[in-house]
Amino acid sequence: MTPGPVGPADVAAAAALLAGVVHRTPVVDSRALSALAGGRVALKCENLQRAGSFKIRGAYVRMSRLAPAEAARGVVAASAGNHAQGVALAAQLLGVRSTVFMPVGAALPKVAATRGYGAEIRTAGATLDEALVAARAWADETGAVLIHPYDHVDVVAGQGSVGLEVLEQVPDVRTIVVPVGGGGLAAGIAAAVADRDVRVVGVQAAGAAAWPGSLAAGRPVPTGPMATMADGIAVGCPGDVPFAVCAEQGVAVETVSEEDLSRALLHVAERSKLLVEPAGAAGVAAVLAGLRVETPAVVILSGGNIDPLLLLRVVRHGLASAGRYLQMRVRLADRPGALAGLLTELADSGANVMHVSHVRTVVDLAVDEVEIEAQVETRGPEHCTEVVARLQAAGYRVREA
Ligand SMILES: Cc1ncc(COP(=O)(O)O)c(C=O)c1O
Repeated sequence: MTPGPVGPADVAAAAALLAGVVHRTPVVDSRALSALAGGRVALKCENLQRAGSFKIRGAYVRMSRLAPAEAARGVVAASAGNHAQGVALAAQLLGVRSTVFMPVGAALPKVAATRGYGAEIRTAGATLDEALVAARAWADETGAVLIHPYDHVDVVAGQGSVGLEVLEQVPDVRTIVVPVGGGGLAAGIAAAVADRDVRVVGVQAAGAAAWPGSLAAGRPVPTGPMATMADGIAVGCPGDVPFAVCAEQGVAVETVSEEDLSRALLHVAERSKLLVEPAGAAGVAAVLAGLRVETPAVVILSGGNIDPLLLLRVVRHGLASAGRYLQMRVRLADRPGALAGLLTELADSGANVMHVSHVRTVVDLAVDEVEIEAQVETRGPEHCTEVVARLQAAGYRVREA
């Protein structure tokens, strides 16, 4: 069956254009996710793609089909990150001039990378929507062609080449799990597998989830204010082209919490030795949170561009949501050596102390008592329980804080 505006033949034609231009990214099995799903689950590593995400695919296909007169006028895009880098690199490869409008406050490494690929950077607006308004004005003024991040048939077909590779790399695949923003990647993959028995499941951050309501309404419906660490998939409304394809192909879209996202990022780093950004971890987040998938399943790691400062915060958040920190209050006799005894007990339990403070101003504290506030690193929730039980068995009065 050929879906609405983009079908398998369109994706195959786009893939032919991309041969030798983009990496055929590896597929690696995840033992941990396979155990969870009860069958083979593999990760498709678009985080290792050129410019750090799948975005180069759609941008290159769109630009390589510009008429010579259009290409001569250059291209313009608005993006806070991955699309900017994809457009800038594709333009460089095709010898086209590119201008990218980025919102004020875009992560500096992303600005630097985009500039490094040869794009002219212009800063405009506080949000991506405001940057897009400025990019459209630039297109009207200069004749530059606006390269939309997802709402164009060539962009969708280009992103779909990920799906074709998955079919070649895991021929018996039954489910493909995909992070979703405007929907270009999910729609492209759905188009690529349209004549196969493969289910495509999209994943959005719960704090920026326009798709579930839109699919229920049968048309793209904008969502309200968005709040998520996954900036790559924080898109306020599905694109018309992606929506038509996904609705026709029966793509379901699930949501994940911020805790699910940070835990997934950490899981992929720890277990698969791969660095992904929060948006890129959304598919893994869904599987970890219990999404039922028919196996073999392939989860797309859609991008790996993360600002080290954000990485630091997300890892800490992921550790906390995975139960790897234990915060507690312990009452001790206020005498020399009491704290040393507690610390020895903690050390023997295998917990690593991160922070300790003495509190003497708690209201119900006796004059000869002190309260210790401690934060320790553990191996996970079961270890937390063990540590508390061990302290209690040794006679400490412990409260988890
Ligand atoms: C890492 C990452 N994953 C997923 C997406 C979502 O792509 P789409 O807008 O095509 O749904 C993006 C979009 O920028 C992204 O950067």
